[in-house]
Amino acid sequence: MTVAVADTIEALRTQLAAARQAGKSIGLVPTMGALHAGHTSLIRAARQETGFVAVSIFVNPTQFGPNEDFARYPRTLDADIELCGQAGAHAVFAPRVETIYPPGFVTQVEVRDLQDRLCGASRPGHFRSVCTVVLKLFNIVQPDLAYFGQKDAQQALILTRMARELNLPVELHTLPTVREPDGLALSSRNRYLDAEQRRNASGIWRALTAARQLVESGARDPAAVEVGLMRDLAAIPGCRIDYAQVVSAETLAPLLPLHGPLLIAAAVYFGSTRLIDNVQFSVTAKDHSSDNSSNMR
Ligand code: PAJ
Repeated sequence: MTVAVADTIEALRTQLAAARQAGKSIGLVPTMGALHAGHTSLIRAARQETGFVAVSIFVNPTQFGPNEDFARYPRTLDADIELCGQAGAHAVFAPRVETIYPPGFVTQVEVRDLQDRLCGASRPGHFRSVCTVVLKLFNIVQPDLAYFGQKDAQQALILTRMARELNLPVELHTLPTVREPDGLALSSRNRYLDAEQRRNASGIWRALTAARQLVESGARDPAAVEVGLMRDLAAIPGCRIDYAQVVSAETLAPLLPLHGPLLIAAAVYFGSTRLIDNVQFSVTAKDHSSDNSSNMR
């Protein structure tokens, strides 16, 4: 399918107005480009659930820290447009930085507390910038539905909270992480890895899976689970841990004992490449392992 590409808000709004006029619902998939099968899974879901799918491609400068990879972030617009078409998108919005941030731009949106945990602790101001740009995209596109990936669990949680608390007339859908056959979560940043780092990076998913299994087999002490996870991550050659935590999937706060919806999340470096991944699942507060041991006594 051919996709209409707009680089101005006016051009995009003309397309959106025509779709709305034709009675179509609007789906938005916000991205920073360098698209892969994780992104296209969101586009395909949007295509199934809405009548007109817009994909935004904007490497948002403000969400990168001063020593992060904004300058070298992969920019592959032509290939991205092709992939958007194949996945069933109708429009690509690829604005210039000045279109999103005209000179003198000073507004910011914050989801406090949640923004400071996990990735927020090592990337100060990151989620404020993500919220601000996504709120702008919501206002530019005015979608009925917007699609995000569980890969960035904290981002999806924060944006869902922002939409709720600001009464935004958009429904957010968070979709499962798409992985390589060896478990590595697809990421635009995986292309920074050399062959050896790429091989070793599959250990992240194995470590998260082992931590999940520990909890599912009865462990309810977060410290014990985190120690095991850190040990497994630290054993991966070339892997440096930023954080590895087990927290509430609803508040991102620590839980003792572990119970309810949980998020086990990790951020690690291979060289200067920062990768994140997570696993989300629910457990009861009951510690089955100690149950078993008391039964045996
Ligand atoms: P980006 O990293 O390009 O990701 C765009 C969307 O794709 C996000 O919702 C992300 O969670 C999702 N995604 C990435 N990898 C995925 C995978 N392996 N499986 C499923 N979904 C995946 O996230 C951003 O851009 C930006 O912060 C943005 C929201 C666009 C704001 O600038």
